[in-house]
Amino acid sequence: MDLKEMAARDAVKYVEDGMVVGLGSGSTANKAIQLIGQKVKEEGIEIIGIPTSTASDLLGRAVGIRIGELDDHPQVDLTIDGADEVDSSLNLVKGLGGALVREKIVAASSRVEMIVIDDSKMVDHLCQKAPLPVEIIKYSSKSTMRKLAALGCVPELRMAEDEPFISDNLNYIVHCKFERIDDPRAMETEIGMIPGVVDSGLFIGLASKVIVASSEGVRILERAERSYE
Ligand code: A5P
Repeated sequence: MDLKEMAARDAVKYVEDGMVVGLGSGSTANKAIQLIGQKVKEEGIEIIGIPTSTASDLLGRAVGIRIGELDDHPQVDLTIDGADEVDSSLNLVKGLGGALVREKIVAASSRVEMIVIDDSKMVDHLCQKAPLPVEIIKYSSKSTMRKLAALGCVPELRMAEDEPFISDNLNYIVHCKFERIDDPRAMETEIGMIPGVVDSGLFIGLASKVIVASSEGVRILERAERSYE
């Protein structure tokens, strides 16, 4: 079994009958969605899935999960999602799949935000390996990117072949290459204050549990207190 599937399989054990379950985005979250679909069929449990992207909506429906709207179920019991980087305080970089805005909204609406990763995603400091994705509105993309650069990064518009990538919310995504981010909470606030920024892929104080799969097996990292509860 590959490591992503191993982590996803462990997380899906926490899905129970009657739950509202956030469906994450990306390849690891996709494994979890498939396994949740299997569990719904085999065990006959009834859950409502809240997708974090068009892709997870489509996959959820395809595997037989009943899909709902966040506004009809504003309190999500458990969300299972992936991440691009996780530090030792369980702060995250997310969004290389382009779904960070809805992922963050669903994470902040969830009693438990469970992150599933393989151990290559654990880092000493955020932005060690990955750029930071930031969703911005199209209207002011150049001026917003200049302000992002002033925070000490090299911003690059995410492309899909020859055209800018368009998010599910019809915005652009900028990949910000930082040398390192020492104070992720302060950086999240500073980025969020730039006009034209919708949100960044810094997920600070949001993850409740991180399930890390490695060749030695699965370990679970837990946070006692979250920013949103
Ligand atoms: C999607 O927008 C992201 O936040 C993903 O959760 C993240 O990129 C991890 O994806 P993988 O599981 O494909 O590595």
